[in-house]
Amino acid sequence: MIDFGGLELKNPVVIASGPVSATIDQLEAADRAGAAGASIKQVMTRQSFRGNLRAYSTPDHVMVFPVDRRLDVVEGIELVKEAKRRKLELAIIVNLSSQEAEVEEYGRLARKFEEAGADAIEINLCCPNFSLTKRQLGRALGEDDIDTGAVTGQNPRLAAEITKCIKDSVQIPVIPKLTPTALDPGRVAEECEKAGADAFSVVGGPSLGAPPVDIYGAGRPLYPLMERAAFGAMTGSIIRYATFRITGQIAQRVQVPVMASGGIDNWEHAIQMIMWGAQVVSVCTSVMWHGWGVVDKLVKGIDRFVAEQGYGSTDDFVGLALQHLTSSEDLGLIKGYAVVDTERCNGCGICTRPGHCNAVTLQNKKSAIDPHLCLGCSICVALCKQKAITMKEA
Ligand SMILES: Cc1cc2nc3c(=O)[nH]c(=O)nc-3n(C[C@H](O)[C@H](O)[C@H](O)COP(=O)(O)O)c2cc1C
Repeated sequence: MIDFGGLELKNPVVIASGPVSATIDQLEAADRAGAAGASIKQVMTRQSFRGNLRAYSTPDHVMVFPVDRRLDVVEGIELVKEAKRRKLELAIIVNLSSQEAEVEEYGRLARKFEEAGADAIEINLCCPNFSLTKRQLGRALGEDDIDTGAVTGQNPRLAAEITKCIKDSVQIPVIPKLTPTALDPGRVAEECEKAGADAFSVVGGPSLGAPPVDIYGAGRPLYPLMERAAFGAMTGSIIRYATFRITGQIAQRVQVPVMASGGIDNWEHAIQMIMWGAQVVSVCTSVMWHGWGVVDKLVKGIDRFVAEQGYGSTDDFVGLALQHLTSSEDLGLIKGYAVVDTERCNGCGICTRPGHCNAVTLQNKKSAIDPHLCLGCSICVALCKQKAITMKEA
């Protein structure tokens, strides 16, 4: 069992809030697939409009979605109650935000879900689709607009106030889900931790993106079934490295555990995320693209790795990468250069192309590297399909 800030999880794999955690059938499927928990689709006290999912999607690369349907409070409560009635084994986490003027509404809302049987509250301080899209276009918010999601999560004081309000209202664990768009997400986390956060949920990325456009169709953005286009939340593999970053950033600034989502497609990604400081990983887009089998593969792959490497549990390697983390001034660069194995080299010349490099030439149809000119960047190593180039310490 994993103790995730007071929430008991049977393994480190959770379904992230989204269109795969909006119905009881999905929660049952997640349970059957072996997920330890599911964060249900965001519950909002008011919805500015009702829109089903629209997205630009390139499987295994990126999803950009400007809208998808949220749950109303009544729907959310019924979903939690039904999951408990059916005695699902997985922990039910409620992803919520309030659109009411008083911060206290967050507390009242969270209490309703605790009474319905929720196992934890995930405060949505991250959704970029409403307030943030408007602000990024320079559109003033209307008088009736209440900041939600990412805009609340950019403000350390407000994020902490909401966290405290919910902490004061419920006994179950409270997990702020942070936005990568904050100036300093680590500061937001520190303030929320002081306000009583039991754990954090993070998501990587620049958050909002725009799809490609039809260059022969008057620049029409390539979203299907939309008259116009908005910036959309970016998810999937494209944000994985940004998720590594925010996971490491938050994990080394707070004491409580972190759950990370963003571009986890396989168990190796999950292990890396754990080594960057996540105690638990969560996944959404990959399940949308490839189905519930993703969860089973993640759980089994992580288990196998733990056994093969002789660890007692995943907790043994949470944050292992953080010991190596420092600022750019302090990297301790090792002198070295690239060397080529001429037996393997097929003379394709791909290694001579990098625009920043004067060290590699072709001689007698083989790559030749001048160690004095080599910067040591190792891009030729990555380019060589023959695996003929390696780096050598000077
Ligand atoms: C279509 C879609 C809808 C989402 N809806 C929510 C949501 O309601 N609340 C939330 O906190 N995150 C939401 N997310 C974000 C996911 O929970 C997750 O943090 C993010 O997608 C990164 O993980 P992934 O790359 O595995 O999808 C949504 C993601 C997608 C793709």
